[in-house]
Amino acid sequence: MSAVLTRRFADRQTAVRALAAEFQELIEARNQAGQSTVLGLATGSTPIPFYQELVRLHRQQGLSFARVITFNLDEYGGLPPDHPESYWHFMQQHLFQHIDIDPQNIHLPSGTVAEAEIDQHCAAYEDAIRAAGGIDYQILGIGRTGHIGFNEPPSRGDSRTRRVELDEITRGDAAPAFGGLEAVPSWAITMGVGTILDARRIALMAFGEAKADIVRRAIEEPVNDRVTASFLQTHPMAQFLLDPEAASALTR
Ligand code: F6R
Repeated sequence: MSAVLTRRFADRQTAVRALAAEFQELIEARNQAGQSTVLGLATGSTPIPFYQELVRLHRQQGLSFARVITFNLDEYGGLPPDHPESYWHFMQQHLFQHIDIDPQNIHLPSGTVAEAEIDQHCAAYEDAIRAAGGIDYQILGIGRTGHIGFNEPPSRGDSRTRRVELDEITRGDAAPAFGGLEAVPSWAITMGVGTILDARRIALMAFGEAKADIVRRAIEEPVNDRVTASFLQTHPMAQFLLDPEAASALTR
């Protein structure tokens, strides 16, 4: 029986508001104590309304990100930061340029690090997360391959930040944004499953019918390396936030 907390919401807007309220509470408590908050961030279509809600809380309720440190999950191989489909660009567009975060506190893996330096770059990313005190709260989406970050199956539960080859399903899902499959990178740098599981709290958001089957497998199948998100069942403070469509295949 899976231990992971599963929360079904009336719609995605209600789900992202609930999650953003948890982030607000955490960040404000840390701000008041003069401490930093370390957030693990995701890209893709799923977290966009969540980032919109954080921006609203910043603008309307004065939520300050001045003490927030961020680490993103992943970046596409070969894409420079200013490429319109890079995750660096995505984060600027959807969150960072709208809030008071210190640019020095923003971390993403580099998609353009030289081949010979990738291992060192990945080790340095892990070191930077540790030096910041570890990730307080990590958000995730889920790919149709069951990946979290770009940990395509099979990915080990103790994997760390590394170069990965992208699954053809994942590349196909990204093709419209890139204007065709040929333009989609074949590889990425991603935090590992072990890196993600080191976060003190984790929230995976999944919305829409296309995620229903993989959400069911992640929550109801025994933990297995074919559905990377199933490793979240082993985490003491992980939750799935679902809309009715994404929850529609659950059997219990
Ligand atoms: C993005 C990431 C991926 C996405 C997943 C779902 O940083 O790590 O795991 O969360 O591919 O993508 P969307 O939300 O576009 O369906």
